[in-house]
Amino acid sequence: MMDWTDTFCRVFHRLLAPHARLYSEMVHANAVIHGDRARLLALDPVEHPVALQLGGSEPALLAQAARIGEAHGFDEINLNCGCPSDRVQAGRFGACLMREPGLVADSVAAMIAAVDGVPVTVKCRLGVDDDHDWDRFLAFVDTVAAAGCRMFVVHARNAWLKGLSPKENREVPPLRYDWAYRLKLERPALQVIVNGGIATLDEALAHLDHADGAMLGRAAYHDPYVLHRLDVAMFGGEVRPRHALLRAMRPYVEAQLARGVALKHVTRHLLGLYLGQPGGRVFRQVLSEGAHRPGADWSLVERAIAATGAPAGSAMEAAA
Ligand SMILES: Cc1cc2nc3c(=O)[nH]c(=O)nc-3n(C[C@H](O)[C@H](O)[C@H](O)COP(=O)(O)O)c2cc1C
Repeated sequence: MMDWTDTFCRVFHRLLAPHARLYSEMVHANAVIHGDRARLLALDPVEHPVALQLGGSEPALLAQAARIGEAHGFDEINLNCGCPSDRVQAGRFGACLMREPGLVADSVAAMIAAVDGVPVTVKCRLGVDDDHDWDRFLAFVDTVAAAGCRMFVVHARNAWLKGLSPKENREVPPLRYDWAYRLKLERPALQVIVNGGIATLDEALAHLDHADGAMLGRAAYHDPYVLHRLDVAMFGGEVRPRHALLRAMRPYVEAQLARGVALKHVTRHLLGLYLGQPGGRVFRQVLSEGAHRPGADWSLVERAIAATGAPAGSAMEAAA
C-alpha cells in the first residue's frame, strides 16, 4: 500500500506474522528502472516471503522492472490492475487495465519471460465502472492465466473510474466476495486470494473456506495485532503480548538508528499496535509526538510501552 508498506512497516508485520506473505507499495516500472532503487526497493532479509508490486502497462518496461525486482530479492512480482487514481488512469495502468486483458496478458508473459522463476501475479478488481458481467471478469482472468499467471488477488468490488476518489473506491462500490469464491470454484487450479473489507480474525478465517488466501490491507495497518492473532490461529504457536512483540523490534530499530534513519520512519507504522486497548491512545500519542524530536531513540518506545501499563522489559524479551 502506497506510503504505508515500506520496508520498515514490512519488518514490523513480519515479526507479528511469521508466515504471512507481505506486499510492497506499488512502484511504477519506470521508477524501478530509472529511480532511486536503494530506497524504492529497500528490503530487509527478515521480510521474506515478500512481493514487489509493479504499476505500468508497457510489457517491455514491466519485464525489465520485474527482472530488477527479482534480482533485489523479491519473491513474487505482482502487477497492479486495481488502482483507480486519476494519476494512474492518466498513465493507463492500474484498474483501467481490467478493460485491456490482452495487454495485461502480454505484460505478464513478458514479465514471466524476464524473471528467473519467481511467480508473476496480478491484483485486480471485478470490473470497472458499471461492468457487472461475470463472463467479462472470467475472460479477463482466463486471458491473463493463459499467459502464465497462476495467482489472482481479487479486490472484490468494481473500481469506478469517474467521480470517486481512491478512498471512496475502497468503500463505495459494493463488495461481492461471491465472485471471488466462484472464480475459485470454476478455476480450481488458480490460486485466488480475497481482498477488500476484511477487518477481523474471524472474517479472514471464514474466507479461507472458499479461497486460497485472504489479503488484509487497512486492517493490517490500523490494527496490526490482528496479523499476529491470525498467524497463530492458522499456523499455531503462542499468542504473544503486544509489548513482547514490539520489544523484539529493538535490535532492528537500533540498527536503523545507527545507520542514520530517524526513529519516526519506523514508529509511524507501530501506532496502531494497541488499538482499542487500555492505554492505546496514550501509546500513540507518546510515539507520534516524541519520534519527531531530534535524537529520539528506543527509550521513547519503552516510554510508550510503559504508558500502556505493560511490565518493564527484560533483556531476554528484547532478544526474543
Ligand atoms: C493508503 C493505501 C494505499 C494503497 N496502496 C495500494 C497499492 O499500492 N497497491 C494496491 O494494489 N492496492 C493499494 N491499496 C488498496 C489495498 O491494497 C486494498 O486493496 C484495499 O484497501 C481494500 O482492502 P482492505 O479493505 O483490506 O483495505 C491501498 C490502500 C490504502 C488505504
